[in-house]
Amino acid sequence: MSPSPAAADSVLLAAARGEAVSHTPVWYMRQAGRSLPEYLKVREGVGMLESCMDPDLVVEITMQPVRRYGVDAAIFFSDIVLPLKAVGVDLDIKAGVGPVVAEPVRTLADVERIPDLTPDHVPFITQAVQGLVGELGATPLIGFAGAPFTVASYLVEGGPSKDHAKTKAMMLGAPEVWDALMRKIAQIASAYLKVQVDAGASAVQLFDSWAGALTPQDYAEHVMPHSSRVLAEAGELGVPRIHFGVGTTNLLSLMGEAGADVVGVDWRTPLERGIELVGDRAVQGNLDPTLVFAPTDVMLARAGQVIEAGRAARGHIFNLGHGVIPSTDPDQLKRLTEFVQSYPLG
Ligand code: CP3
Repeated sequence: MSPSPAAADSVLLAAARGEAVSHTPVWYMRQAGRSLPEYLKVREGVGMLESCMDPDLVVEITMQPVRRYGVDAAIFFSDIVLPLKAVGVDLDIKAGVGPVVAEPVRTLADVERIPDLTPDHVPFITQAVQGLVGELGATPLIGFAGAPFTVASYLVEGGPSKDHAKTKAMMLGAPEVWDALMRKIAQIASAYLKVQVDAGASAVQLFDSWAGALTPQDYAEHVMPHSSRVLAEAGELGVPRIHFGVGTTNLLSLMGEAGADVVGVDWRTPLERGIELVGDRAVQGNLDPTLVFAPTDVMLARAGQVIEAGRAARGHIFNLGHGVIPSTDPDQLKRLTEFVQSYPLG
C-alpha cells in the first residue's frame, strides 16, 4: 500500500506542495481529545495507551473531529510515546500529567535494551490507518511521530519536565550515550512513520514540541542531524513532511533546513516573521489557542489576520499555534473552521 490516491488532490496536500488552493486548508493539533464530549464518552474506563492500541477506537476517535468540524485533514489518534510502549519500554500516560517512564534511560546499556521498531510491533497501527483511509475518502490522514529530542526528554527525565536539565546534561556530558539514544529514537520514529504511510497516511508531522528549550547551536550540533534523518526517510515515502515545535522562533530556519516541506509556527512568532525565517517552504499555524475563549468576532478577526499573513508563504495550512486546550468550546472551533474555509483568497 501507499499514500491514499483519493486524497492526492486535497487542499492540504496542494498547500504543502506550494500549489494554489481554493481555500486555506485547516485542521487543529489535538482536534481529537478532551475538548469533545463524544471523545470523553468513548474513553470512559479505557486507559490512554489501551485506546491507542484498539483500532476500532482509534478510527472512531480520529473521525470524531472530522465529522463535527469538516476539517481538511485528520490527525491519527495516538501518542508520541506509543511506539516506545510497542517495543516494550515500561511507560504509562497518566491523566493530567503525560507520559511517565518507569526506568529512565541514563546509560548506554539502558539505550541498548530498547529494541528497534519493526512493523510486527504495531499491527494495530496498520489496521487502524487502513480502516481510517477507507472512511476518510478524499480527506487526508496525517500520520505522526515524536522527534528524537522531545521523545528523549521523556525517556531521560522519566516524565514531563520544564527545563529538560537531565536531558541536556546527557547531551553535553555523555555524547556517546546521547548519540546512541538519538539514533535509537530516530530509527523508531522512521519505522513508525513508514508503517503509517505504507498503510495509507497522506502526510506526516514530526513533533519536536520541546526543541524550543535548545539554543540554535545545540540544536544544530546535537539534535538536527537526527531529526534530518527521520525527515529524509519520510521524504523517500513520497509524502509531505510537517515539522513542528513550540517556542522555536530561533530554530525555525534550522527546522526547515532539517528537511521539512512545511514548518509549524507557534503563536508567539508573528506568521510574517515565521515565513521570512523558513524561506521557500510552506508554513502551518498559528492562531493563539486561547483565542477560542475570546468573543467570536475577536477570534475570527485574528484568524483573518493569520490567513492574510499566510498569503506571503509558499503555502499555508491554518492551525492553532499549539494543541486545542481541553476546555475549548467545540462550537467555537466549528465557527473558526467555517470562517477559514469560506475566507475568499481571490
Ligand atoms: O488530535 C491529535 O492531535 C492526535 C493525538 C495526539 C495525542 N498526543 C493524544 C493525546 C498527538 C498528536 C499527541 C502528540 C504528543 N504527545 C505530543 C506532541 C504534540 C504536542 O502537544 O506538542 C506530546 C508532547 C505528547 C506527550 C503527551 N501525551 C502529553 C504532553 C500529554 C498530555 C498530558 C495531559 O493529560 O494533559 C499526553 C496525553 C495525551 N495524548 C492525551 C491525548 C488526547 C490526553 C490523555 C487523555 O485524553 O486521557
